[in-house]
Amino acid sequence: MAEIRPKPQAVSEATEAQIAVHWREEEYYYPHAKFVGQANLTDPSIIERFSEKNYPECFREYADLLTWDKYWDKTLDTSDPPFWKWFVGGKINASYNCVDRHLDKYKNKAALIFVPEPESEATISVTYRELYVRVNEFAALLRDYCGLKAGDRVTIHMPMVPELPITMLACARLGVIHSVVFGGFSGEACGMRAADSQSHVLITMDGYYRNGKMLDHKAGADIALETAKKEGHVVNKVLVWRRHQGKNASATPFVKDRDVWVDEILPKYAGTIVPPVPMDAEAPLFLMYTSGSTGKPKGCQHRTGGYLSYVAGTSKYIQDIHPTDVYWCMADIGWITGHSYIVYGPLALAATSVLYEGVPTYPDAGRVWRIAERLDVNIFHTSPTAIRMLRKSGHDEPTKYKYHFKHMTTVGEPIEPEVWRWYHDVVGKGEAVIVDTWWQTENGGFLCSTKPAIDPMKPGSAGPGMPGIYPVIIDENGQEVSAGSNKAGNICIKNPWPGIMQTIWGDRDRFVTQYYAKYCKDRNSKRWQDWPYFAADGAVLAADGYFRILGRVDDVINVAGHRLGTKEIESACLTVPEVAEAAVVPVVDEIKGRVPEVYIALQPGIQPSQEIIDKVNKVIETMIGKIARPKHVHIVPDMPKTRSGKLMRRILAAISNNMKTGDITTLANPDVVEKVRELVQGKETVAVADGPEDLKRFGTEE
Ligand code: PRX
Repeated sequence: MAEIRPKPQAVSEATEAQIAVHWREEEYYYPHAKFVGQANLTDPSIIERFSEKNYPECFREYADLLTWDKYWDKTLDTSDPPFWKWFVGGKINASYNCVDRHLDKYKNKAALIFVPEPESEATISVTYRELYVRVNEFAALLRDYCGLKAGDRVTIHMPMVPELPITMLACARLGVIHSVVFGGFSGEACGMRAADSQSHVLITMDGYYRNGKMLDHKAGADIALETAKKEGHVVNKVLVWRRHQGKNASATPFVKDRDVWVDEILPKYAGTIVPPVPMDAEAPLFLMYTSGSTGKPKGCQHRTGGYLSYVAGTSKYIQDIHPTDVYWCMADIGWITGHSYIVYGPLALAATSVLYEGVPTYPDAGRVWRIAERLDVNIFHTSPTAIRMLRKSGHDEPTKYKYHFKHMTTVGEPIEPEVWRWYHDVVGKGEAVIVDTWWQTENGGFLCSTKPAIDPMKPGSAGPGMPGIYPVIIDENGQEVSAGSNKAGNICIKNPWPGIMQTIWGDRDRFVTQYYAKYCKDRNSKRWQDWPYFAADGAVLAADGYFRILGRVDDVINVAGHRLGTKEIESACLTVPEVAEAAVVPVVDEIKGRVPEVYIALQPGIQPSQEIIDKVNKVIETMIGKIARPKHVHIVPDMPKTRSGKLMRRILAAISNNMKTGDITTLANPDVVEKVRELVQGKETVAVADGPEDLKRFGTEE
């Protein structure tokens, strides 16, 4: 029976990250017997095998899922904390593990099934044999035409097409470090990342379909190169894949000697076989840029051996992937979910991984379920935003289609129990098990989740730590918060794991300060126990050991499951000459979870106008991308500030979300709060809502 817990008393001296939380404890759901009967992981001894007493050797189990060129000497090297080294001395190639080694058994099996957005275009299956041929040919082009070699970086700005994983795997074959930038990011955002990673080659595509329209994607490459140049970096080659044979979806002219069509040079390498380069286990496999609490996105650098082991292990045991499954993760490969759980994890296990080009509700709310039925997808993986959108646009649509999922994932944001239940009852038809997987770009793979055939599900809770991951909640005073105390705190991971990033590309100091400085008691300590990883998420631990994630405690906004730094958006706003100050806060959105809302104060003597608002909107779109588009831009007379001049984003967030603003007497300019409130909400509105937990904490972690 679901239990209603009494609201705990607020503790007056509690800091903001410790605020007591309260909600209904949800009831457990148990996995279907049919699922358990076929699951990869049914033996509860995994908990013992991966317990602290068997750490770190327990992770051999994951590494042993792979084929190594040379077995490692040391599982974990902690001599230079927090720069952990995994499977030291080992040599391995990721491309070989995701492609070549499956040829004996599975060469005729589909590795990728590409579903174009227009329903009139046939799906394309790429068998493992074909993948092998295409990866080799493209690797030959990268090596011989572009002169790339192990350790070089390449920026990839591509849509969801099979050529994207082919490009990534070709890089991995050579040991070239790929940096995939989400296709929906603007050319400028791509250029900034290309400059930071010092990539001399950019790989893109002429165009792709989105919502029924063919978009000119290559145009972004020219902007990217200009931006990189302004940053002092020259990209000298642009490789352009073609979406439709014989056509050109881009109006942008090619720059001679710089831009080339891939399909014009690829035939030269037809049938070329490129031996996979045995890479050091610690050699970087890829960079993935993500937003943090400073203006500049940071390049999370992931290692080859540890990362691949971790995604293979979690794909097998948590995603329950068997080679016979048809697995569809609806994320974009341009995000970490796509890297780990569309490309590397599933392909390492010889799965069939589905790639969909377009918008889930195009041309109608039944599209996703038609694809699932037609391809007989049995594992489905998506985000709460997509689930909310599908629920709103077609509540009963799933019932019209004869697909059967055995397993479903939700990832990227907290899911409301009501939405979870729709996912379970309607999308999963009451048969599919659900895993709510909590993790981050920095982490490589899942950190908290239920083990699908072992642990019961609890709507809205991610579940316990993964095997070999020991999470803990720590309060602002460095004290561990106990299970069942109903107190929120900062979720941390006590131990290193193979999927954790190696460092921030080119910025070791920032890696330490961002993730470890907060709770490291002794910077000279060589014991991993002294270096808890700080995730910057608030969470609560229930008495049953299940973690419920509340959201970010820093100034990162999670929009539709994607991270945007408020400072990145604010920096964009400040490039508009009329803007003197900018503050960005999250506002609750029914579908996307949170979206940014912008507050700006103007330079002296400038009058507010729609034109300024339009300029702000436009600059955010060009510097970051449409994904960062604000819900509103408010021009305010002044910003609420502390006496020391600190901008109080939390108060603006409270106003935007119709929440109580709390104590404002300590502000330097308390009367501005009422003025801003009136401006945003109108005279009559009285803020009543207590508000979601993450918004109460917003901006408390600086
Ligand atoms: O706030 C957490 C939220 O997404 C953030 C990480 O975002 P990103 O690096 O883009 O990676 C997203 C996909 C792994 C986290 O700090 N988050 C992720 N998964 C969950 C979640 N919040 C609640 N529940 C989840 N399952």
